[in-house]
Amino acid sequence: MFEILDKKILAPGVKLIKVKAPLISQKALAGQFVVIRVYEKGERIPLTIADKDEKEGSITIVFQEIGKTTKLLGKLEKGEYILDVVGPLGKPSEIDKYGVVIGVGGGVGIAALFPILKSLKSYGNYVISIIGGRSKDYVIYRDEIENLVDEAYITTDDGTLGRKGLVTDVLKELLENRKIDRIWAVGPTIMMKVVSEVTRPYDVPTIVSLNPIMVDGTGMCGGCRVTVGGEIKFTCVDGPEFDGHLVDFDELLLRLKTYKEEEMLALKILEESEANRIESFKD
Ligand code: FAD
Ligand code: FES
Ligand code: MG
Repeated sequence: MFEILDKKILAPGVKLIKVKAPLISQKALAGQFVVIRVYEKGERIPLTIADKDEKEGSITIVFQEIGKTTKLLGKLEKGEYILDVVGPLGKPSEIDKYGVVIGVGGGVGIAALFPILKSLKSYGNYVISIIGGRSKDYVIYRDEIENLVDEAYITTDDGTLGRKGLVTDVLKELLENRKIDRIWAVGPTIMMKVVSEVTRPYDVPTIVSLNPIMVDGTGMCGGCRVTVGGEIKFTCVDGPEFDGHLVDFDELLLRLKTYKEEEMLALKILEESEANRIESFKD
């Protein structure tokens, strides 16, 4: 059982929880994730370790409530417990001194980008961030990122914060005018696909953090299979970060829809349930 030490609402439907997990906090590196289970018969879901505090023995998770499991997780309060938290899983980001690096983050992916930017900065890179969301309220981790990086850009779809438009608009301009050594993109799959297409002609190495459906997170089930450079990879053990120029994004987008009907049904039942507390899903 893993105690929730703190909980914050960062944006509509986006929550941050700090979880007591001393062993994970000692080992976790940028780019890694945990697999959690909220109740005994519940599914396992992967969530990125957005931050850690070794002294406190805690890790921070930021998640978007989109379906049954993330909504149930969002109902847990400070002082309550998560049944299982397994990790750190996945390969850490390959951090080195590259020179000028850009981190592109979209939506809840901004929180997952944060530890990568932190690590890149600690290696002496000149770090540029481009973060974006639907509107002002959805641009999370703004202060943390602005205080960390050398240059920060924000875009919103509706222009309520920063520049009106997409993160890729700013990215194109930077690529046109500057020498960029490496790019990280973390966010919705479609955003990572577009970022990879934008950077391809400039031949700038582009790392993406993939989010296929995962079950065990340890290379056993094959659920997280992706095609990278024509080869089959398991995101949980070979990734989650891959060369964006080699990823078959169309296949990944299709596979993400595999259980759409079941997921929608599970959510409907949850929402219709009068007592939609975790206790009622224990049987
Ligand atoms: P559902 O209604 O079940 O699913 C909604 C959509 O989420 C699905 O259509 C599918 O595209 C995706 N999804 C569903 N089940 C899974 C699953 N078991 N594994 C992966 N994707 C799934 N989300 C965050 O909000 N914050 C994070 O930090 C974060 N980090 C991730 C790191 C990795 C390595 C991966 C692979 C995914 C990450 N995700 C993160 C996505 C998160 O796991 C899904 O949003 C979550 O599992 C949805 O579960 P649900 O039951 O609430 O929604
Ligand atoms: Fe099962 Fe990766 S989640 S093999
Ligand atoms: Mg689910």
